[in-house]
Amino acid sequence: MALPRAGVRDTAAFMLDVFFPTAAKGATIRRPRIEALAERLGLDRRAVRRMQELDSRYPDGPLLLRLPLRKQAIVLRPGHLDAVLQQSPEPFSPASSEKRGALAHFEPRNVLVSTGPERSVRRALQEQALDTSSPVHRFADWFLPVIHEEAESMLRSAGARGVLDWEVFNESWQRTVRRVVFGDAAREDTELTEQLARLRKDANWSGFKPRRKHTRAAFLRHVQDRIDAAEPGSLASVMRGRADEAAPADQVPQWLFAFEPAGMAAFRALALLATHPGQAQLAREEMARDTSAGRQLPFLRATVLESLRLWPTTPMILRQTTREVEWDAGTMPARCGVLIFTPYFHRDGRRLPDADRFEPALWLTTDRQEAGPQVDGDHGDWGVVPFSAGPVRCPGRHLVLLLTSALLANLLRDTDFTVHDGHRLDPRRPLPGTLDNFSLRFTAKPRTVPAGDVPPSS
Ligand code: HEM
Repeated sequence: MALPRAGVRDTAAFMLDVFFPTAAKGATIRRPRIEALAERLGLDRRAVRRMQELDSRYPDGPLLLRLPLRKQAIVLRPGHLDAVLQQSPEPFSPASSEKRGALAHFEPRNVLVSTGPERSVRRALQEQALDTSSPVHRFADWFLPVIHEEAESMLRSAGARGVLDWEVFNESWQRTVRRVVFGDAAREDTELTEQLARLRKDANWSGFKPRRKHTRAAFLRHVQDRIDAAEPGSLASVMRGRADEAAPADQVPQWLFAFEPAGMAAFRALALLATHPGQAQLAREEMARDTSAGRQLPFLRATVLESLRLWPTTPMILRQTTREVEWDAGTMPARCGVLIFTPYFHRDGRRLPDADRFEPALWLTTDRQEAGPQVDGDHGDWGVVPFSAGPVRCPGRHLVLLLTSALLANLLRDTDFTVHDGHRLDPRRPLPGTLDNFSLRFTAKPRTVPAGDVPPSS
């Protein structure tokens, strides 16, 4: 028995309301104009509604689409999402054809598109470099002063321009990223970031765009030179002298690339705090109590997780079956694409009360009273998976939360932020389905302290 199959109209509705608008935003580098259009037209909200409708029409998924030339399933239930992610990379391989097509433009031997023993070696190297099992990276002493200095410099640039916009934020964030990845000497190496951006634009077209092999070779040489010169305490220092099988130069572009969405998540988190005074007060109380020098800020980490729940930066998690897979409802064929559309699970008000509100408490547990609130980044059981789940889960998740929470603490310490109009971030209303980071702007002013509030640092 085969899995339930969507009719032609439902398949077309999925493609029009969910797949095309999401793919048009750009899978590896965002297209600002489409992001703005998505916010203006409410496209993400429409996509979530379409998924809910499909779920109620086909209760026994996963659901096969009716597409020519391609076997493709979509996941509609949290239990099925969890099954797919837990059974990765076999039989649900992350090395799907479209991902291989995309990453071939700039990191053809990256772990995400590797299989078998090569995947194991590359994943192990990634976990070692990113210190995956540790909430506080072992190089935190090196990273946190970088965050502090670059946050100061970001605020100075915002002061000079009179506004903190995405351009100011991202320039400064990219400097931070290059220093964290390679060390101080790479701070001004904007050429590296630009080379990668050019290749990522091609990657948005996956296999439909020819590869620029010379540009890619020049970029990967540049990365290798930077690895060779990596300073102690930088992430890339762990990659020096690694076996060719681990393809170190192909592992590092994923970091440079993936830190950009981390910046977007932090920028949106700042907007959440700027528009939710009660939550901002809780963040400041946490900062005032902090004895870990910015290493353990559970409330701010939960704020970034909320930013990623509300506006996931990886909206489509992709898999491809390596063999036939049996489900209660029928058989999924071999070489079948499997698509998990995360905004649907993250914003499904039928399963998640307050799905459209900013609720950092969702991510905080107080199981161990003596330890105070802890971040629990694992909500695969509800389908809330900003960093995915299972064995392929993002190995950089703790590092992302460490750096972004520290950045937010540095920005908020002595500065008040106000969001310019136009983004409907009112705590009394459901939050919008899309938050266009490119048009988000803040006024940044030295903090004034209302009575009963937490004073700025002296
Ligand atoms: C907001 C920031 C980020 C988010 C939301 C995110 C999320 C994800 C997701 C959803 C995956 C795919 C997992 C899957 O297919 O199941 C992934 C993979 C990965 N991420 Fe992240 N990521 C972020 C930042 C980073 C950073 C900064 C790094 C490194 C410094 C990183 C390293 C990786 C690597 C190496 C993989 C491939 C894992 C594998 O194939 O085994 N990520 N990430």
